[in-house]
Amino acid sequence: MEESRKVLYSAVQPTNNLTIGNYIGAIRNWVDLQNGYDCYFAIANMHAITVRQNPAELRQKTLALLALYIACGVDPEKCVLYLQSHVPAHAELAWVLNTFTYVGEMERMTQYKDKSSRHADNINMGLMDYPVLMAADILLYQADVVPVGLDQRQHLEIARDIAQRFNKALSPTFKVPEGLYVKVGAKINDLQEPSKKMSKSAENPNGSVFMSDDKDTVIRKFRRAVTDSDSDIRYAPEEKPGVSNLLSIYSVFSGKSVAEAEKEFAGAGYGEFKLAVGEAVAEKLEPLQKEQNRLLGDKAYLDGVLRSGMERAARAAGRTLNKVYKKIGFYQL
Ligand code: TYM
Repeated sequence: MEESRKVLYSAVQPTNNLTIGNYIGAIRNWVDLQNGYDCYFAIANMHAITVRQNPAELRQKTLALLALYIACGVDPEKCVLYLQSHVPAHAELAWVLNTFTYVGEMERMTQYKDKSSRHADNINMGLMDYPVLMAADILLYQADVVPVGLDQRQHLEIARDIAQRFNKALSPTFKVPEGLYVKVGAKINDLQEPSKKMSKSAENPNGSVFMSDDKDTVIRKFRRAVTDSDSDIRYAPEEKPGVSNLLSIYSVFSGKSVAEAEKEFAGAGYGEFKLAVGEAVAEKLEPLQKEQNRLLGDKAYLDGVLRSGMERAARAAGRTLNKVYKKIGFYQL
């Protein structure tokens, strides 16, 4: 890797099935970005356990996510792909950063409030501490940029605050990272409730399109997508959230701009439009799923990617952690 390039960091949790929101808002953008930055892409399994997971499934989903990264075009030769729990420095730095984070700040996090209302029987410390672990992820690699969807913006802001607070208290140590949000698709919404983000854990499975959905399922979900009572197909997120969301999705999956898509469907009915969106998505997903399955059949290869990723990530993370331990006054031998 060239020393002068900027560092980019991002991660996805290996929970449930990924949605096309994760793909559009995050993974697909990494494919272009990997050519311009030194990239670290993690599988955030330590974040995943803040909500109860089935251990066998968590293991399986970890490899499935790695295979999906690679199937989408994220190249392990160009980027460091690794599993968060393979690099102990994440937990170690998170502990130090905990002492630079206020309980009140964590209580105000939107995602924490949302998840604690959905998992009221398991409001564990990890759920609350989640943004601090995320800050540790990013700051360990001295990341300049962090491409994420808009739902992660608040967590990124907190990571910046924590970095600045530490730097101010103990001298400059961390790079203060910038968020990077795509123009189209930084927030893909639920097909049934277009005012809400499309989520892996939505109550109504018809609202989320999963990366693993087969063609019939994809088309059925788009056919049922909520639109509105008038009939013109134009991009107006406030006024026409359902139609605008479908236009964003279509734009990404067809490679056309939103304006081109509007032109293409001028005068068309919603039925025709929704079918075209479904077909564009299904057509793109099929080869990705095939490649993901092929890769999943080669466990030795995937393990090799994780092993090499772990080594490279641990080296970079170790440098930062060492600095932090010195600055904080941990006696070193
Ligand atoms: P996660 O696993 O919930 O989501 C992964 C990525 O997908 C984006 N995303 C969306 N983008 C557009 N529309 C949507 N409906 C949508 N839903 C999800 C998310 O913004 C994210 O970019 N905490 C993170 C994982 C993480 C991380 C990190 C990210 C752990 N450490 C360090 C960046 C840097 C998360 O739970 O993402």
